[in-house]
Amino acid sequence: MISRRHFLGTGVAAVGLVTAPGGAWPSAAASPFIDLRAAPATALLMPKAAATPVWAYGGEVPGPVLRLKQGQPAYIRVNNGLTQPTSVHWHGLRIENAMDGVAGLTQDPIPPGGRFDYIFTPPDAGTYWYHPHHRSWEQMARGLYGLVVIEEAEPVAVDQDLVFIADDWRLGADGAIDDASFGQLHDWAHGGRLGNWLTINGRSTPQLTARPRARIRLRCVSTANARIMAFDFSELDGVVVALDGQPLATPLPVGDRLVLAPSQRADVVFDAPTDTGVTRTIREVSTSNPVPAATLAVTMAGDPDTGARPPLGAFRLPANPLPTTLDLAEAETLPLLMEGGAMGGLAEATFKGKTMGLRELAREQNLVWAFNGVAGLPETPLRRVTRGRTVVIDMNNDTRWPHAMHLHGHHFRVIERNGKVVADAPWRDTELLRADERAKIAFVADNPGKWLVHCHMVEHMAAGMVTWFEVI
Ligand code: C2O
Ligand code: CU
Repeated sequence: MISRRHFLGTGVAAVGLVTAPGGAWPSAAASPFIDLRAAPATALLMPKAAATPVWAYGGEVPGPVLRLKQGQPAYIRVNNGLTQPTSVHWHGLRIENAMDGVAGLTQDPIPPGGRFDYIFTPPDAGTYWYHPHHRSWEQMARGLYGLVVIEEAEPVAVDQDLVFIADDWRLGADGAIDDASFGQLHDWAHGGRLGNWLTINGRSTPQLTARPRARIRLRCVSTANARIMAFDFSELDGVVVALDGQPLATPLPVGDRLVLAPSQRADVVFDAPTDTGVTRTIREVSTSNPVPAATLAVTMAGDPDTGARPPLGAFRLPANPLPTTLDLAEAETLPLLMEGGAMGGLAEATFKGKTMGLRELAREQNLVWAFNGVAGLPETPLRRVTRGRTVVIDMNNDTRWPHAMHLHGHHFRVIERNGKVVADAPWRDTELLRADERAKIAFVADNPGKWLVHCHMVEHMAAGMVTWFEVI
C-alpha cells in the first residue's frame, strides 16, 4: 500500500511537469489532494458564551463535508497541526485496510507537524463520516469530526441535500470544554463521558433552510462520544431511506424516535412544506427533558415545484455493491463475550498476556472492560479468516450498560437477537446492544487486512472494549 501511495503521488506530479507549458511548475490546482488540517480553532457552540476553543478540521466544527464520488479515487492529505499525534478513520467506508486510519493497527499515528496521504476508492454511495482513531475520546470530544458524502454514480431525485450532524459536548457556563473531565475512570466505567450541550452542525438549535415543497435528503449522524441520542422527526413526516450509509430495501417512516447511537447514521427524505414562512422543529427526545435540536424553515425564494413525483414511500436509493449472500451453513462463528464496567462483576482480565485483577487493571491501565477476558487491543487477532468466508460474531453483552458495537471495513446484518431469528435486518456498521442483550451479526469477510471490532462509546473502547480480526 505504501508503495502504491508513493507511486500515485509521484505519478501525479510527473504528469503535471510534463504537460506544463514552457517548463512552468505545475499549479497548485493540479493537485488532486483535498487538504484536511487538524489544528486548534474556535467555534460558536454556545450562543451566549464566548467562542469555545476546539480542535477542528479546516478550522471548522464540524470539519468540511467531504463530497466524494462512488467508485472514484479520493485523495485526502491530512496535516497534523495538533500538539499530539492523530490519525483519520473513514467510518463505514469499505476501503483498503492500509487507509483505515487505525493508529497502532493499520498505520503509525501522524506525529505533530506530520502528514499522511489517504488515497482510497469508496465502493459504496451514502453517508459516512471521519474522525481520529487515536485518543478518540479526547480528539472527537474537542471537535475533530466531519461528514463524508459519497455521491451516487447517477444523481438521486432530491432537490436539496442537507446535513444534520449531532454532537454532545461537555461545556462549562463560559462555553469552554470541560477539560477536567477527560480521562475520568468513573465515566469510563459507566456510560462514558456524557455531555451537557447539544449542537447540530456545530450550532445550538440551528435553522435549516428549505425551498418550498423541496424534496430533501437529510443526512443525519451522531458524532457523540457516548450519549445515545434520539430525535423526533415527526413534524417532517419523512422516511428513513438508509442506515449507516446502506440503502434500505423498503423505506421506513421516520417517526418520533429515531435512535442514533454514537457513530450511527440515518438518511431521511421528506418534502418541505409548500408555504414560505412555515417552520418545523426537530427535537432531541432521549431524556425526560426533550429539547429542540434544529428547525427547518421554508425561507428560500422560489416557486414551489408543483410537478408530479413519486410518493415518499416509493423512494429508493440504488443498492451498493455489498456482498449480501451469507453462507450461514459454512460460517465461521466468533464468540464475543462483553464484560466489565460498573456493577459488572468482572473479577480479572488479561492485559498484554498478563492476568490482572480488575482493581489493578483500573488503577494501572485505566482498563475496566474486556472482550473474551482480554482488556484492550490484543496482540493477536480474535481469529484469522479466509477472504470470502461468512463470519458470524456472537456478541453477548454481559454488562449493565448499552454498547454501540462497530465493525471496521464491512457492513453486517443482525441475524439473531436474544435467541430469536431476525429476518432481513438492515445492513449496518454499528449496532446498539442494550444491557444484557445478545446479538449475532453476520457478514462476508471480503476485505483483506486487520479490522477492529469495538464499542463506539469511545471511552469504553479506550477502557478495554476493542479487539480485531484479520482477513487473509
Ligand atoms: Cu468510527 Cu473504530 O470507528
Ligand atoms: Cu460500550
